[in-house]
Amino acid sequence: MELKHRVAIVTGAVGVIGQGICRTLARHGMRIAVADLDLARCNQFAGELNATGATATGVAVDVTSKASTEDMARKVVETFGEIDVLVNNAGIIALGSLVDLAEEKWDHVINVNLKGPFLCAKAVAPYMIARKSGRIINMSSVAAKRPSPLQSAYAASKHGIVGLGQVWCQELAAYNITVNTICPGFIDSSMWRDHLGPALAPAFDSTPAQLIDTLARAFMPLGHPQTADDIGQAVAYFAMADNVSGQTLAIDGGFTM
Ligand SMILES: NC(=O)c1ccc[n+]([C@@H]2O[C@H](COP(=O)([O-])OP(=O)(O)OC[C@H]3O[C@@H](n4cnc5c(N)ncnc54)[C@H](O)[C@@H]3O)[C@@H](O)[C@H]2O)c1
Repeated sequence: MELKHRVAIVTGAVGVIGQGICRTLARHGMRIAVADLDLARCNQFAGELNATGATATGVAVDVTSKASTEDMARKVVETFGEIDVLVNNAGIIALGSLVDLAEEKWDHVINVNLKGPFLCAKAVAPYMIARKSGRIINMSSVAAKRPSPLQSAYAASKHGIVGLGQVWCQELAAYNITVNTICPGFIDSSMWRDHLGPALAPAFDSTPAQLIDTLARAFMPLGHPQTADDIGQAVAYFAMADNVSGQTLAIDGGFTM
């Protein structure tokens, strides 16, 4: 698919990886719906993209709400006339051992990371089906390939989204809609700063701030963390590819293979 002038919704768009995806798709000439919880932050980032010559608009969405995801899809079609690409990127993490992880934290992670993509795809797919064209790109994680302790809810949600992609690939193929999944490696964001860094640094004789580099050097053949633009490149590839569906691609410097 030629991306120029096509329309992408990116959820979690004002987060670190979301911004990288939006910037990359904008460089390809796509029109971008910057979708995240806080409308003011969406509008601000859409404005920054527009200042570079892009065409972007902010739209508030809570991916855990059916009404909100339907509202998002309707507003994007009203604004841009179509939806060509949905990037289910919004996600959160909560850490805790099997014994300690609170049920509420489990529910929150599963709701955002697993139910969220389900509701977003459910809201957007009818528009894609009507035009017999579309791309759905889901954000999983290396936690779906090489999960770590303390990640029950997160790893379950990220394994689950791989399964959703394989089901939707088959259900939507007749409408020329591809569904693919990306597993990012280590990208410096609030997930590392607020959760993984403080929890895991002592076990690796590191500081929270240095943990991401420590782990990349120790476990990634390429030896350094990934960037949000690395993930944007993979999203752009799946958005362009006409004959690739049901795939799960790790962007992790060789951490998983
Ligand atoms: N950072 C990493 O190393 C890494 C690794 C693997 C996978 N991922 C995945 O990449 C995605 C983006 O993560 P990130 O690192 O950019 O984190 P981030 O915290 O910077 O961004 C996440 C975004 O999701 C949004 N969000 C949270 N709950 C939401 C909801 N209910 N509705 C709508 N938006 C909501 C947040 O507001 C935030 O902008 C996530 O799915 C995450 O699991 C990240």
